[in-house]
Amino acid sequence: MSSLPSDTSPTRVEHQHTDKGYVPVYTTAVVEQPWDAYTAVDHDVWAQLFQRQRELLAGRASDAFLAAQDAMGMTPDAIPKFDELNDILQRATGWTLVGVEGLLPELTFFEHLANRRFPVTWWIRKPEQLDYLAEPDLFHDLFGHVPLLMNPLFADYMAAYGRGGVKAHAIGPEALVNLTRLYWYTVEFGLIREAGGLRIYGSGIVSSKGESLYCLDSDAPNRIGFDLERIMRTRYRIDTYQKTYFVIDSFEQLMEATEPDFAPIYARLASQDSYPAGNVLDRDRVFHRGTGEGWAGDADF
Ligand code: PHE
Ligand code: CO
Repeated sequence: MSSLPSDTSPTRVEHQHTDKGYVPVYTTAVVEQPWDAYTAVDHDVWAQLFQRQRELLAGRASDAFLAAQDAMGMTPDAIPKFDELNDILQRATGWTLVGVEGLLPELTFFEHLANRRFPVTWWIRKPEQLDYLAEPDLFHDLFGHVPLLMNPLFADYMAAYGRGGVKAHAIGPEALVNLTRLYWYTVEFGLIREAGGLRIYGSGIVSSKGESLYCLDSDAPNRIGFDLERIMRTRYRIDTYQKTYFVIDSFEQLMEATEPDFAPIYARLASQDSYPAGNVLDRDRVFHRGTGEGWAGDADF
C-alpha cells in the first residue's frame, strides 16, 4: 500500500477538462485510512451528519438500507475505522473497503468493484459543507454506499456492475454513457417501492438532507417505474436535484433486469436519441408526474 497523508486534506494530483467540466484528478493509489489524523472537527462533522440523516431517513430510507446500516454497527460517536467495518463486511458478503483520495478513473473504479473492493474517500467535508459538496467525501461513500454492501443481493449487483463496467469500457465511450446512467439512476439516486410507500436506497440521496426530502416529498420531480433501456437513454444532472427518480419494485427486479448481456442493448441504443432528464414518456409507469417547479432550464448530461 500506501502513502500516509500528512493532514486531513486530499492530495489533488492535477485538474482535467472533461465532458463533465473541470474536475480534480486524484492519485489512483489505495491509501491507508489515516484515522489518527482525523481532528475533533472531522469527528464532529461525521456525528452531525450521521444524526441528522438518521432522523430524516426513518420512514424515508428503505428498510434494507436502515437494517444494513444497523448491522454494520456504524454510530455517530466517531468516524468508523475501515478495518473494523471490513471485519463485519467481509464476513457478511465478501466485500472490502479500500481508502482512496477521491474519484477514480472509470476503469480503475470498475476493477475495484468487480473484485468486491469498494473505494471509500478517506477525508470528510468541512463544517461549512454539511449541506452540499460537489464531489464524494467520506460521509457520502461510507454512510451512503457502504451499508447496502451488507445486503447479499445488492452486494452481488455492485460486483456485477463492476464486471459490466470493465466490459462496457472495452466496447466504447457510448456504452459507458449508457451504463453510467444506470448507476446514476439506481445506485446513486434509486427509489424502491415498499409496503409503506416509496423509499430511498440511492447513496446520493441518503447522504443529502435536501434531496432526501425533495425526492419523496416534493411534487416537482417525476417518479417513474424502473425500465432498463429507458434509464440507459435518460440524461441526468450532476449539479442539481434530479428531475426524475426511477422506482424499483425490489432488489430482485434490479438483479433480473441487469442479468442479460448488455452488448446487444448498447448496439441498439447507439442509433437512438437520449431523453432529457425531465421527460415523461407515454409508456412510462408513472408513480408521480412532476410539476417541474424550480427545474433548471439548462441542459443535462
Ligand atoms: N449484464 C451486464 C452486462 O452484460 C452487467 C451488469 C450487471 C451491469 C449488473 C450492471 C449491473 O454488461
Ligand atoms: Co456515490
